[in-house]
Amino acid sequence: MQQLQGRVAVITGAASGIGLALAQRFGREGMRLVLADIEAAALARVQAQFQAQGVPALAVQVDVMDEAQVAALADAAYRHYGAVHLLCNNAGVTAPALRAPTWETRTADWQWVLGVNLMGVVHGVRAFVPRMLAGGEPGHIVNTASVAGLISGPGPYFASKHGVVCLSEGLYKDLRAAGAKLSASVLCPGLIRTAILDAERNRAAAFGGATDLSTLPEASQRAAAGFRESLQSGYEPAQVADAVADAVRDDRFYIVPAQAPLVEMLRLRMQDILEGRNPSLPPGR
Ligand SMILES: NC(=O)c1ccc[n+]([C@@H]2O[C@H](COP(=O)([O-])OP(=O)(O)OC[C@H]3O[C@@H](n4cnc5c(N)ncnc54)[C@H](O)[C@@H]3O)[C@@H](O)[C@H]2O)c1
Repeated sequence: MQQLQGRVAVITGAASGIGLALAQRFGREGMRLVLADIEAAALARVQAQFQAQGVPALAVQVDVMDEAQVAALADAAYRHYGAVHLLCNNAGVTAPALRAPTWETRTADWQWVLGVNLMGVVHGVRAFVPRMLAGGEPGHIVNTASVAGLISGPGPYFASKHGVVCLSEGLYKDLRAAGAKLSASVLCPGLIRTAILDAERNRAAAFGGATDLSTLPEASQRAAAGFRESLQSGYEPAQVADAVADAVRDDRFYIVPAQAPLVEMLRLRMQDILEGRNPSLPPGR
């Protein structure tokens, strides 16, 4: 989609991190914004900032895990602007304890992470794409996966992101086959400096509540602390947003702003598969 100016962008998880950076970038491009997030106070703060800059920004509190709420988000966006051209299904969560082996991961962890990260994207596609197709205008869908969706590891985060990569590839092919004016991309960032490791701030008690880190085995606590440190020295969300804007304009599907060691892990995984080897262990295991 070459022209962004004046068009409408819907971004989930827009109150923080990568979603906020996407909103800032597309706001600077002259797009009209729909900001969606589960966290009402942060969302209101962000909306006020955009309005103060003269960027049109509708804010809708939504839990992407809930299909009815995402349908209501689409209703609100179309009622307000009459069209949607860019859909960024970006909201996502993880937790420090989710680096434990799969057999130690609680069912509630699987339900929460798959519910937000995978079903959130499914709900977004189902609520918006039929209306974007019916609108007949050019448009683009960007689903935020992760480099975790291209390499492999334990627990629900990796599995959820593999699901997002796969459904996005399917979406791209289906849109092409339908001759649609819509296209799609999948965003697979590496380590990015955001609040993702505090995602349990939005975790409902029904999905297990927040993890008490002090109850984890010492090795898991050390791994969690190390991961937090790596994220803090990660890329800035604005760099990711720039890569996304370029990909939307150039109609590029895979967006992989990831550090070299992560790209190397991707290469190794692909070689393992193609050469019939068993999965290589990550460095240090
Ligand atoms: N930070 C990284 O290193 C990294 C790397 C790869 C992929 N990602 C992905 O990027 C996306 C954005 O994460 P981030 O790193 O900016 O984290 P973040 O925590 O800074 O932002 C995520 C936003 O999503 C919102 N959110 C959480 N659950 C929600 C729900 N159920 N419904 C609606 N909104 C919800 C949060 O309130 C928050 O504002 C996620 O999908 C994440 O998995 C992040």
